[in-house]
Amino acid sequence: RLAKAPLQVTLAVIKPDAVAHPLVLQAVHEKILENQFLIVRSKDLVWRREDSERFYAEHAGRFFYRRLVEFMSSGPMRAYILAHEEAISRWRALMGPTKVFRARYTAPDSIRGIYGLTDTRNTTHGSDSPESASREIASFFPEFMEREWREWEEPLLR
Ligand code: PPS
Repeated sequence: RLAKAPLQVTLAVIKPDAVAHPLVLQAVHEKILENQFLIVRSKDLVWRREDSERFYAEHAGRFFYRRLVEFMSSGPMRAYILAHEEAISRWRALMGPTKVFRARYTAPDSIRGIYGLTDTRNTTHGSDSPESASREIASFFPEFMEREWREWEEPLLR
């Protein structure tokens, strides 16, 4: 049998606007399953303001920074580590564009196209590169040890 390529992992987050609505939370969760992602870990959590500031430090100074920081620490979120051969691009395609106006018009069936409310309250987050996936997974799941996971759990998943 041919060896399979290693699975890629990404961080996916359901933001407070969507977690606040049980039907939206459920619908996004179902999209994850329907699209054949493997759920490696998941947790519900609430950020303190400082967690939010640290996570979005690269946007400090942008006009939306305060709004984004306040919003992301305003209520519970759900975070997932998702695995798939192309987890990063696949999850980003499923989310659709960041800006809701663009999502509505160019990707009306995407998660943000359907459920996004504004450019800040846009339902989900996803890592944009392998480097940001590692950093963001470590930030949400500090106890996750990717090497051990690859050794022990990944083979059981596929
Ligand atoms: S950009 O504009 O290319 O830097 O946008 P991006 O790197 O994709 O993500 C920016 C994150 O900030 C959130 N946010 C906004 N972006 C653009 N415009 C406005 N007004 C805005 N308000 C909030 C946006 O949802 C992205 O959050 P994440 O969690 O990274 O998806």
